[in-house]
Amino acid sequence: MDYDDTNMAAVYDSGRGYDPETLRQWLALLSDALPEEGISRIVDLGCGTGRFTEPLSVHFEAEVIGIDPSATMLEQARAKCARSSVRFELLTGSRLPVEDGSADMVFLSMVYHHLPDPGQTMRECHRILRDGGYVCIRNSTLDAIGSFPYLRFFNGIRSIAEGQLTSRLQMTSVLESAGFESVTHKAVTHEMSPDWRSFADKMALRADSFLARLPDDDFEAGMAVLRAYAEQEAPGGAVTQEVDFFVFRR
Ligand SMILES: C[S@@+](CC[C@H](N)C(=O)[O-])C[C@H]1O[C@@H](n2cnc3c(N)ncnc32)[C@H](O)[C@@H]1O
Repeated sequence: MDYDDTNMAAVYDSGRGYDPETLRQWLALLSDALPEEGISRIVDLGCGTGRFTEPLSVHFEAEVIGIDPSATMLEQARAKCARSSVRFELLTGSRLPVEDGSADMVFLSMVYHHLPDPGQTMRECHRILRDGGYVCIRNSTLDAIGSFPYLRFFNGIRSIAEGQLTSRLQMTSVLESAGFESVTHKAVTHEMSPDWRSFADKMALRADSFLARLPDDDFEAGMAVLRAYAEQEAPGGAVTQEVDFFVFRR
């Protein structure tokens, strides 16, 4: 999906935002899996609006190169990050503007399923990473599809998601074929919203590539059912989804 053909950039941070505790959770997962020292050059591949780009730079005290093919997403990322150790490049993941063996980590959040040729991109990650460098992937997978909280409200969304996502096994096999070894995998409970009303408000922004692909009528009908559920039936407490977290080493 070309994000520049949508209004995703304008709504992404509101529709996909997380609270500071959720950001801390993801940064802690990275720290737990990676060595304390030696992560000084990071590529945030498919960085979008930069949800993770500046936080990665601060957390690891690292230079971060945010790469994304969407001019409108990058415009948002650039506008909110003034850190001199962060730079952004308008590119896809097929050819990265980084010398051989010079990066310590490539981070991909919710990007893997957008890659037209994941094997080629992972070989390119292998080229730019030093020996012992890491690919860290935060993504939904086919295995976790049952945990998507919006699935039961929108007709047709399951088949769109199934057509886009890959399984844990397939992803691991692609990375291994590109020369990486698997370090860790976790299914992480990610808080989407503190309650169902705010979850419905977020979904209404349609800042999700699966929702963006739905016909408008199906989206509106699903939103009506979701809103009614949020107002009348939904339990209290946070709305969560399982997000897969993988770490591979070169
Ligand atoms: C769901 S957004 C994720 C953005 C960010 N990583 C985050 O987690 O907030 C997916 C991003 O992948 C980018 N993208 C799509 N195709 C890509 C490709 N071939 N290489 C790199 N990025 C790509 C899109 O432009 C979009 O910004």
